[in-house]
Amino acid sequence: MTRLTLAVSLLVAAGKSPDGVFTDYRSWQHVKSMVIPDKANGLYGFHHVFVEPKALAAYKAGKGYPEGSHLVVPFYEVKDEGGAVHQGPLKMLAFMRREAAAKETGGWRFGAYDAGGKVMALDVKAGCFTCHEAKKDREYVFSEWAAQ
Ligand code: HEC
Repeated sequence: MTRLTLAVSLLVAAGKSPDGVFTDYRSWQHVKSMVIPDKANGLYGFHHVFVEPKALAAYKAGKGYPEGSHLVVPFYEVKDEGGAVHQGPLKMLAFMRREAAAKETGGWRFGAYDAGGKVMALDVKAGCFTCHEAKKDREYVFSEWAAQ
């Protein structure tokens, strides 16, 4: 086995996405959380919004995201334990990556990793962008930086 294939198989074993986003986002800026406990809701889960450091100024301003910058949302199961709501196991990591070439989806590449770090097969135009399109005036980003 060459050193390269060894490195690649170690990455796969660790479930790391090739671009690093799947593991790196945990050190980015956490901006908010939301719990949608209804399993019938398409956005069911305990989720957090994380912003990559190089996108933070744009996130605060609501415009001007640099090419290649990311916003991500890990979705966890919702565990209700006697009235205390906890996050359960990771379900998926949704991401938006600024790519000017992705014109059909507002200059963002939409996608999601499964809990093992593999990119999921999704129709992102219908499944993501039709909803995010409503936020055209904020470059298709829903959440906002809270003042306090
Ligand atoms: C039904 C509407 C809807 C659909 C469909 C949807 N989203 Fe979102 N998305 C939202 C809302 C609302 C938020 C803000 C969540 C919050 O404030 O906690 C959000 C937040 C995000 C964020 C964080 C940045 C932001 O806009 O606040 C990312 C990244 C994201 N979604 C990716 C995706 C991906 C990828 C898909 C498709 C797999 C998707 N979304 C599908 C409504 C949607």
